[in-house]
Amino acid sequence: MKQAVNRIASTIVYPTENPYLNGAWKPCDTEWTASTPDLQVIGEVPRDLNGVYLRNGHNPVHESIGKYHPYDGDGMVHGMRFRDGAATYTNRWIRTTGFLAEQAAGKSLWPGIIEPRRATRRGWGSIGAMKDNAGTDIIVHAGKVIVAMSQCSEPYRLDPLTLETLGPDADWARSVGTRGICSHFKHDEHTGHMTFFNYGEEPPYMNYGVVDRDNKLLHYVPIDLPGARWPHDLGLTENYSILHDLPLFFDPEGLKKDQHRLGFHRDVPARFGVIPRFGGNADVRWFEAEPCYLLHLSNSFEEGDDVVMDGCIQRNPIPDLSALPREGYARMNALLDMHQQQAHMHRWRFNLKTGQTKEETLDDQVTEFPMANGRHGGRPYRYSYNALPARGFWLLEGLKKYDFQTGASQTWMPDKGSYVSESPFAPRDNSQGEDDGYVVTFLTNTETGKGECALLDARDISRGPLCRIVLPHQVPTGAHAYWAPDSMLAA
Ligand SMILES: [Fe+2]
Repeated sequence: MKQAVNRIASTIVYPTENPYLNGAWKPCDTEWTASTPDLQVIGEVPRDLNGVYLRNGHNPVHESIGKYHPYDGDGMVHGMRFRDGAATYTNRWIRTTGFLAEQAAGKSLWPGIIEPRRATRRGWGSIGAMKDNAGTDIIVHAGKVIVAMSQCSEPYRLDPLTLETLGPDADWARSVGTRGICSHFKHDEHTGHMTFFNYGEEPPYMNYGVVDRDNKLLHYVPIDLPGARWPHDLGLTENYSILHDLPLFFDPEGLKKDQHRLGFHRDVPARFGVIPRFGGNADVRWFEAEPCYLLHLSNSFEEGDDVVMDGCIQRNPIPDLSALPREGYARMNALLDMHQQQAHMHRWRFNLKTGQTKEETLDDQVTEFPMANGRHGGRPYRYSYNALPARGFWLLEGLKKYDFQTGASQTWMPDKGSYVSESPFAPRDNSQGEDDGYVVTFLTNTETGKGECALLDARDISRGPLCRIVLPHQVPTGAHAYWAPDSMLAA
């Protein structure tokens, strides 16, 4: 089968100089369902890989109100289902309330994240000033895909195979109210729990919650913070979650006047709150650390009295833009440049006995979008699979595998003009080790205009893809990805 199921004509006006609407970022306009053998396969689809690779991203339909930012576009999920040596590609827009409203109107109704209406944004999506596109994060929990956007939004659920939007999660979303959930939320493969947080500009500045394997909200508590913050991830270990209070936040005086001046406060320590999975505000142990910002964690785990957290620290989250023109895209590119942010792998150790924090640089090289074997999520682990960002622009031009036990690493760079997506580890059936399986990614090839799904041997990614499946269209560069083995697809 190779079927163009639906096409939605774009109203975006081309040519445009916006780099996030061209090249590897050019949105697609067609929803496909396409399977082998009607898709070209270079190599062989392995029979011992059974599950689905899912990648979220922003794929705008309509011409934006003002300048388009790559976080604004309508959410679209691309899925590659592997089953008994066959593969099926499916891509669908996420039918959020905002998406459907704009489809009915035939145009954009909400300005994006960098437009002046940001003054009224409250960290909320379709109920506030910004369209909820649900296009940032993606996991599978309780047998369904959950997607949401970084600004906090309704948790939308999708069928993990058809990618049909099942709607906002009505079972427990009402309990979290207009705060919604923020990317990132975490799924614990061992317990089936999903942990999450949200944040806002009025107290409580953060809430923390846990949903069980049957999709019931078990726990939802307010967390005291010194002010409005802008966190992006939370850590998960076997017994704890790790909350982030980072010195990148809006000027509190400005907020009183509805002005949103985001600043990095180099003299304010980062704080990380270790909270028992079902703990409350009084149970949080706060640990201070060097000032930093942090988007994405690779993994966290417990070791003796330590809670250990690994992720891509940013020492310079907001680069100096003063020499760059306000017109054009130089400032946007600088703000999205992971080399300017100096993102690199870092380890924090929070000692529960002494209250001390120890920090360690794991690698100086700029990497982002770290992924670990989901079975080791929250538990001791050895390997992380990170993306190597391009310079000066938001693109991922290669992969790096870390072995934290030996200090060794491997890299793989695809052909020129070809870019990877976030690339999770996918265990083979009866996997015998932490890296016994595949690393799976979508490739966006700007030279050929073709999209591919590539599988690499996780034990040696430097050999390049074992298998490439050529897709019916170019898969634009996107946001987060997830691997769900077959065992997670049934509720
Ligand atoms: Fe993220």
